[in-house]
Amino acid sequence: MFAVEVRDVSYRYSDGTEALRNVSLAIEKNRRLAILGANGSGKTTLLMLLNGLLLAQSGSVRIFGETVTKKNLRTIRRQVGVLFDNANADRVPQTLEFLGKYVEKHFNDEQQLHLKAQYPKMESHKKMHTDFVTAFKKMKQDYDTDGNKLPVLLKINKTVVDWLKSHIMVHDKEFAKYYKSSGNDR
Ligand SMILES: [Fe+2]
Ligand SMILES: [Fe+2]
Repeated sequence: MFAVEVRDVSYRYSDGTEALRNVSLAIEKNRRLAILGANGSGKTTLLMLLNGLLLAQSGSVRIFGETVTKKNLRTIRRQVGVLFDNANADRVPQTLEFLGKYVEKHFNDEQQLHLKAQYPKMESHKKMHTDFVTAFKKMKQDYDTDGNKLPVLLKINKTVVDWLKSHIMVHDKEFAKYYKSSGNDR
């Protein structure tokens, strides 16, 4: 049995980019293997297929004999870790920049809607948005200045996801309810 066995795998992204075509490889247990190739040659796609971040569109990927499918991702990910390299880390600031802008735009649109519906809680809701933007900017600054990038990034990730989840689940939902009952959605 191989530790990793990729057989005849192809992968095409939804934008049409063909990342892998009929790739096969087998890696024995206790081996180290370097895969070399230019940017865009499919190395990252291949890695993502190994722990189910992507699923093969044709062919198969096996980890210690077990085919990677939607159903066994937990087991597979206990065995296959993926760490991204610095080339990807370099794109983090742009991603944060984008996220910051996206969130601000979303907040603005939402606040417009509050205004239109004369939402009684619009001031306190707006304050939550503003506080989040401030906190996010601070975290982004920390990321830019802190030498120890990964922990900062993980913290940002957790904070953003937790905040959005609770905000949407509680406060945005509350507004949605009000919006509906006020007849504004018609
Ligand atoms: Fe909101
Ligand atoms: Fe929202």
